[in-house]
Amino acid sequence: MPPTLRPTFPALVILAAALAPAGLLFGQNPRPTGKANEAYAQQCANCHGKKLEGGQTPAGNKVPSLLDDEWLHGGDDESIARSIRNGYPEKEMPVWSATMPEKEIRAMVIYIREQRALFQRGLIQFNKPQDSVTVKGELHDYQLNTWVGEVTEPWSLAFLPGHRAIMTEKRGNVFLIENGKRAEKPLTGVPPVESTGQAGLYDVVPHPDFARNGWLYFAFADPQKYEGKAVCLTKVIRGKIRDGALVDQETIYQAPLAKYPKSGGPHFGGRIAFDQNGHVFFSIGERGNGANAQDLSVPMGKVHRVFDDGRVPDDNPFAKDPKAVPTIWSYGHRNPQGLAFHPVTGQLFDAEHGPRGGDELNLVGKGKNYGWPVITYGMNYDGSAMTDITAKEGMEQPVTYWTPSLAVCGMNFYSGNLFPKWKNQLFLASLVGEELRRIEIKDGKVVAQEILFKNLGRIRHVIGGPDGALYVLLPTRIARIAPAAGPSS
Ligand code: HEC
Repeated sequence: MPPTLRPTFPALVILAAALAPAGLLFGQNPRPTGKANEAYAQQCANCHGKKLEGGQTPAGNKVPSLLDDEWLHGGDDESIARSIRNGYPEKEMPVWSATMPEKEIRAMVIYIREQRALFQRGLIQFNKPQDSVTVKGELHDYQLNTWVGEVTEPWSLAFLPGHRAIMTEKRGNVFLIENGKRAEKPLTGVPPVESTGQAGLYDVVPHPDFARNGWLYFAFADPQKYEGKAVCLTKVIRGKIRDGALVDQETIYQAPLAKYPKSGGPHFGGRIAFDQNGHVFFSIGERGNGANAQDLSVPMGKVHRVFDDGRVPDDNPFAKDPKAVPTIWSYGHRNPQGLAFHPVTGQLFDAEHGPRGGDELNLVGKGKNYGWPVITYGMNYDGSAMTDITAKEGMEQPVTYWTPSLAVCGMNFYSGNLFPKWKNQLFLASLVGEELRRIEIKDGKVVAQEILFKNLGRIRHVIGGPDGALYVLLPTRIARIAPAAGPSS
């Protein structure tokens, strides 16, 4: 059975790591580091077990496992925080509130969530499809077959008329694919791309009216020099294909280099999506600097909206604010690498990488603030707290979030006909998680999730083809997901 994952609860929490009680009990005096994993090992493991599996207190009281689905005192974030804060002294569970600041209690809750999810994941046999072997899915069985091999870190794929497709590789190549065969050589004339670390060539998306105008839109990390130093910013261009070359190139968006001479850092965003009314949306990550996301005078940490030729629409939310970057549509984003419009409602969703925990799926609205780094469901990579709040007035809550992080990347709603029960559902790729997820959204809430498969490598994108199949970008190949041969399920 493929696993169904319930949506994570959005809840508030807090908690802290306290030393004194544990120190008193065990005669040790561990130094606080503020890191949840270390605090756990020093202050909780004696009773709760090294792996959170439970055990006994020194006086012989039973200590519950923190990994299973049974909670004595409630399993939502706030209940767990309260257990830690107030303890159960009659059962020897110490009171931690005096010694553990709320921020650290919050980090401890995230740590417990993360460890639980990792443990539970270990119990599940995930689908790891092989070519030509039918895989059982919850709503549909399917087969995953290599469609195009011999590619290197493909980042995006788009279908063009006439059985053609176009694909980007992170390292900077653009390839045409014709009748399922990749062209021998990449397109010439593609601008130089910075591709070290998280930088690279990102999305390629055809204009909605491509059949008539031939425009293709690209996002990439644009290598520049400012006063002799290498600088690199996310840039969006468009161009047309002629005789194996990318020609007629025009800049759609480029941040003024002189204003951001020190832009280094990861988190480039790089996803593009068109709405039905001639606007292009694209994402730029906060470049490893959380403050950028809340600063309307910089383009980083934002989703942007322009016309198809790059002009700024008058009705952009900050178009009349002289201090704001006028292309901004929404802000408070960390690193959105998924951007997709719902085919029926026309709503825009983004998927963005959180820190350690707290990857988000957001319903993106005009002028809205998604809260990074003021609110988050994640913590720092080293296990220390980032903030103890997950909600704030004026900041949007995610539709759902994932802890531990999957490193969510590209996504698309399915609108083909080969898998009728998947219609209008969201398919999401992930890098670290190596998962392809099916996500069912009803009335703005995630009501079901299925991991269609896992462990075939990092996935950067998933997109429906004109044939109704789903195409998935794996590290060295593009795979095609189609119904299993024989009577369809
Ligand atoms: C001296 C032993 C001891 C230590 C140390 C200890 N706990 Fe506990 N903890 C317990 C016991 C016993 C219970 C069960 C209380 C009960 O039966 O009501 C418990 C309950 C809990 C619960 C509630 C579980 C549930 O099922 O609702 C949480 C959460 C928890 N502990 C977290 C922690 C954390 C985090 C730490 C370290 C900061 C910690 N504990 C340290 C003994 C301990």
